[in-house]
Amino acid sequence: MVCLPSTALGVPDKAEQTLIEKGRYLSRAANCYSCHKSPQGGPYTGGVGFETPFGTIYSTNITSDVETGIGSYSEADFDQAVRHGYSSIRGYLYAAMPFNSYRDMSDDDVKALWAYFKNLPAIRYEVPENQMTFPANIRLGLFFWNALFLEESSFVEDTSRTPAWNRGRYLATALGHCGECHTPRNLFMAPQTDSVFEGNILEGWLASNLTVEGLTAQGWNKADMIRYLKYGHSRQGAPSASMHSVVHDSTSYLTNKDLDSMATYLLSTDTQKLESKPYPVLTTKDKQDPGYHLYAQHCAGCHGANGQGAPPSVPSMQGNSSNTLPDPYASVTFVLRGLPDRHPQINKNSQGMPGFVDMLSAAEVAELVTFMRRVWGEQTQPVSIAEVERIVEQLRDDNWLYRHSEH
Ligand code: HEC
Ligand code: HEC
Ligand code: HEC
Repeated sequence: MVCLPSTALGVPDKAEQTLIEKGRYLSRAANCYSCHKSPQGGPYTGGVGFETPFGTIYSTNITSDVETGIGSYSEADFDQAVRHGYSSIRGYLYAAMPFNSYRDMSDDDVKALWAYFKNLPAIRYEVPENQMTFPANIRLGLFFWNALFLEESSFVEDTSRTPAWNRGRYLATALGHCGECHTPRNLFMAPQTDSVFEGNILEGWLASNLTVEGLTAQGWNKADMIRYLKYGHSRQGAPSASMHSVVHDSTSYLTNKDLDSMATYLLSTDTQKLESKPYPVLTTKDKQDPGYHLYAQHCAGCHGANGQGAPPSVPSMQGNSSNTLPDPYASVTFVLRGLPDRHPQINKNSQGMPGFVDMLSAAEVAELVTFMRRVWGEQTQPVSIAEVERIVEQLRDDNWLYRHSEH
């Protein structure tokens, strides 16, 4: 059958419409939205600033506007940008655009994404100029970066695993690009291929270990993971910092089947039975601990006298992943920095949390965190004052102490 290109007639035909819908879903699964939404303009007009050690990079306008967007792109240009990090407009792209992960996307999925994006209404919006320091401001330099670090896709189905596990791996790596934040980076900001998902510090927050070992040590099971990715709360706590927008703009849009697959992959299990440990209850002796006094005075008003919280708006401290991690970094940074007020879509009643850096001394933070981690996280190694002071210094030096991420 010979068809006229549907867009030539102005109205997409049924097949094209199905492809556009698929592309819309994939744009959520790959979270194009979160990085390309504009603080001022509309969706996909770009302008979100990403701070890197080399300067600030702004996401671009990817609506179909010819002058300020990608209206001049062909399908091949789109593929080049998304999977290979090369823009026909700008040249080599900075890896703030996660083409490192997207290179593993299937041909069919790139096609569907293109159908969606080329049909987006054109919005004229000029994004700010990148502010890069020499020599990173020279895009040609990126050619060498890409040549050094960007490997060809070697993504193949693992036939020893179920289709659900394979789908989950594709969702988490090629589309969801979880590793862009959860895999540590080298000095050139390239992901370290030998430590995939092992955890990474990002804007002063810990994007923790997502390996099977890391997750199971913290008691995650499939039901927890699905709830966390769908609704933004779980027994292990709530998504904060940049993870909030991952859930809010991306994973909460996934079908239950895809969420099940992602959890199957992350926990490397097709059959895991649900077994939840009962929450620890505070004893009278625990309540005499000086750490508990600090907790009762500063935290219990929101998180409850027994650390039970008020989920989903205030996370529980009992078994909270910040308390069960071997490294106290996450617990300490949450207390020092607090958390901003959340969008009402997920946590309707959340008022956010104040930062305690000026309210508590390093000794008090150490005492409080040591207590919480012992009673609610089974972590008996005390947190030292020196460790708290080191984290305060580091946050201050990196300018994250009184600031949260803007996107
Ligand atoms: C983690 C943030 C992030 C995500 C997720 C992201 N992008 Fe980008 N994207 C960027 C940034 C930043 C740039 C600009 C890079 C530069 O200037 O070198 C960019 C550039 C682009 C460009 C080049 C535009 C031009 O002007 O030539 C295209 C096309 C693009 N992105 C499409 C997408 C699509 C499609 C998705 C989802 C599949 C996506 N992006 C997801 C951050 C992101
Ligand atoms: C833009 C960066 C970013 C991306 C992309 C990202 N994460 Fe995260 N993630 C974080 C940060 C930062 C935290 C820590 C915030 C917190 O503890 O609330 C986090 C925390 C988590 C946690 C909670 C871990 C714990 O110990 O409580 C899980 C589970 C998680 N991410 C899963 C994922 C999955 C699955 C993906 C891919 C679909 C993903 N993340 C993609 C930044 C990211
Ligand atoms: C005004 C209410 C309030 C007070 C006081 C408060 N918190 Fe919070 N806390 C919250 C809210 C709300 C969140 C979740 C924010 C979000 O959605 O990201 C939170 C998040 C946290 C988290 C991160 C948990 C997770 O799952 O991501 C930790 C840890 C925490 N609080 C510990 C404390 C400690 C310790 C204190 C006392 C020093 C304290 N909070 C005081 C309201 C409060």
